[in-house]
Amino acid sequence: MKLLVKNLCWNIKENHMKFHTRKWIKPEDLNANNSLFGERLLAWIDEEAALYAIIQLENQHVVTKYMSSINFMSSARVNDIIEIGIAPVKFGKTSLTLKCEVRNKMTRQTIITIDEIIMVNLGKDGQPKAHGKHRIEYVKDRLEAQSK
Ligand SMILES: CC(C)(COP(=O)(O)OP(=O)(O)OC[C@H]1O[C@@H](n2cnc3c(N)ncnc32)[C@H](O)[C@@H]1OP(=O)(O)O)[C@@H](O)C(=O)NCCC(=O)NCCS
Repeated sequence: MKLLVKNLCWNIKENHMKFHTRKWIKPEDLNANNSLFGERLLAWIDEEAALYAIIQLENQHVVTKYMSSINFMSSARVNDIIEIGIAPVKFGKTSLTLKCEVRNKMTRQTIITIDEIIMVNLGKDGQPKAHGKHRIEYVKDRLEAQSK
């Protein structure tokens, strides 16, 4: 019971969104309305989710399977700086569910939220493969474990 409570606390604490990536909005990132082009933002989010999943699952063969509805709440203009946040929601058998929030550092507004991005771990045959992961792992801890 004590262990269960400890694990639950750990999960809640560790599920906080981490904003690892910042982007500086340039003229080539704009749409005809002179605001950030949605397609560009979705490409950055997809890349960020893939990087997160590749690092967590320790496998380069990870693909985006599903994204839940996307809510563009505000935008960004040229020279704005935005930051992309990703957090794990659930470690499945072959999948990793992530959530995402993008914020505008200048206006402090949320630009977009995505509740579910499902990444699937693949084997060499291109089919879903169990990843065997159950919680977030940090490189520091992996290195410590290796040196023991
Ligand atoms: C990814 C792919 C191999 C999955 O094949 P599949 O037959 O759907 O696989 P499964 O049914 O075994 O599902 C795999 C996992 O995804 C989850 N999943 C599949 N469809 C889902 C959906 N619509 N919503 C949520 N989760 C879903 C399953 O629950 C399962 O997770 P689990 O093992 O953790 O329980 C296949 O759909 C594919 O190749 N899609 C194209 C991916 C792609 O090219 N992406 C864009 C470029 S990165």
